[in-house]
Amino acid sequence: MWSNLKTKHYAVRERTILDLFDETRGDDFSVETAYMRFDYSKTNIDVPTRKMLITLADDAGVAARRDAMFSGKKINETEGRSVLHTALRNLDGSPVIVDGIDVMPKVLATLERLFIYANEVRQSNITDVVNIGIGGSDLGPAMAVQALSPYQNGLRCHFVSNVDGANIADVLCELDAKKTLVIVASKTFTTIETMTNARTARVWMKKNGGDTSAQFVALSSNLEKTAEFGIPPERVFGFENWVGGRYSIWGPIGLSIMLAIGSYNFRDFLRGAEEMDRHFCDAKGAANMPLMLALTGIWHRQICGFISHAVLPYDQRLVLLPSYLQQLEMESNGKSVTMDGSSLTLESGPLVWGAPGTNGQHAFYQLLHQGTTVIPCEFMIAATGHETELSHHHDLLVANCLAQSEALMRGRSLNDARALLVDKFDGPELCRQAAHRVFSGNRPSTTLMYPKLDPFTLGQIIALYEHRVFVEGVILGINSFDQWGVELGKELAMALQPIVIGKQTADTKDSSTKSLVAYLHRQRI
Ligand code: F6P
Repeated sequence: MWSNLKTKHYAVRERTILDLFDETRGDDFSVETAYMRFDYSKTNIDVPTRKMLITLADDAGVAARRDAMFSGKKINETEGRSVLHTALRNLDGSPVIVDGIDVMPKVLATLERLFIYANEVRQSNITDVVNIGIGGSDLGPAMAVQALSPYQNGLRCHFVSNVDGANIADVLCELDAKKTLVIVASKTFTTIETMTNARTARVWMKKNGGDTSAQFVALSSNLEKTAEFGIPPERVFGFENWVGGRYSIWGPIGLSIMLAIGSYNFRDFLRGAEEMDRHFCDAKGAANMPLMLALTGIWHRQICGFISHAVLPYDQRLVLLPSYLQQLEMESNGKSVTMDGSSLTLESGPLVWGAPGTNGQHAFYQLLHQGTTVIPCEFMIAATGHETELSHHHDLLVANCLAQSEALMRGRSLNDARALLVDKFDGPELCRQAAHRVFSGNRPSTTLMYPKLDPFTLGQIIALYEHRVFVEGVILGINSFDQWGVELGKELAMALQPIVIGKQTADTKDSSTKSLVAYLHRQRI
């Protein structure tokens, strides 16, 4: 099927997206559920291509692999683990069996404990919460707290992730240690950045009159290490190793979100994801939103060869979503070895980046419209904003979002550019000026539209993207749930630390590292 798709791509290379349009394409190439609409009509996918892409997914065994994931089979084969972030939002509690044991009673009991604890904190004298974590133990909560700020009442949440002391210093300097709760969020409880920041926060709290025995909480699956750090078991919220770091927002790692928006709203967030899980399992073929989002991804990256895609939320509160999706997609599908250890002969997952509109329009959209590289764009927009008194802002936001996808598709011909300038210029100057105003067009984009950015919808969006990544991983035949590629740098950093502080020489290092270390030491004298 791969070669059929490549042949098809070659055959339609001269055809424009606009050529595909008729009155019904907008509906025919969209998936609409009761809760949102995903439009992929502004891509070069036609009916036969879609059919081939769906066959590709069928042949790869996406449905069987999906069922294996949901039922607790150990599909993370390189780590011998189940992949069950979906169990964390399985609110109806139907059994999920791992090693002969139903994990649901424990999952629901932990959720209840978290809700009780979050309510207690929300009623205490605590005013500020500092979540210390990195990667999956930071990006999800930081993104969601910001996304759901209209639902926040009371507690202010801050996030410290970088081992750069500037991060924690800037956060702590504004806080009252007696009224601050520190959450140490780390699945492994060994991550050097997080543990360094946690120790710094503990020193700060002690020095400034806080009570470290009462004001530290741990979210982790390593209970030995949380005890070693001195956090009492009643303030440790554990989770199992079948929850991957970048998929962990739904359980204990989501504590800061619960503290910010309350347990009622957090439950709604889980319900949204649960609803998307149901849709992913039940909807068939072209009616399945995560499947179609994934297949547009495969079409663009592996067939058309576009190296990246841009995530463009027209929603200022989703400012951190591109970073969140960067980890979700790139840490999951940035692999060059297939499940059986052989080399991946296709391209791995794409480079993911982006920023909210309309700000991006005034920064990097120039390249999206006129650069030599085609970058498929994934737009997102709510039908209504929260600021009802500012609905004219939202109308403008929507108009901009729709205009960008239209402009990317339509472009502007040389003739049209000349017609715009003919009153101002003539002769060679008209040609020269017009050339700069040509847009090639035919640049693909998709648009996700939802009623409003509420907890339920955010849960849906994140689960949609999780399943997209899953489907793409299955089609590529890779393991989307390990991340060995982050290990080498960590090991080398540990080895370099004594060299940086001058306890060891850099003799074994390459001449670049050696010279940089020498320069560093000269600057520090
Ligand atoms: O270094 C990568 C990683 O392992 C991510 O997968 C993870 O989200 C992050 O580090 C943080 O890990 P932990 O929660 O164990 O501190």
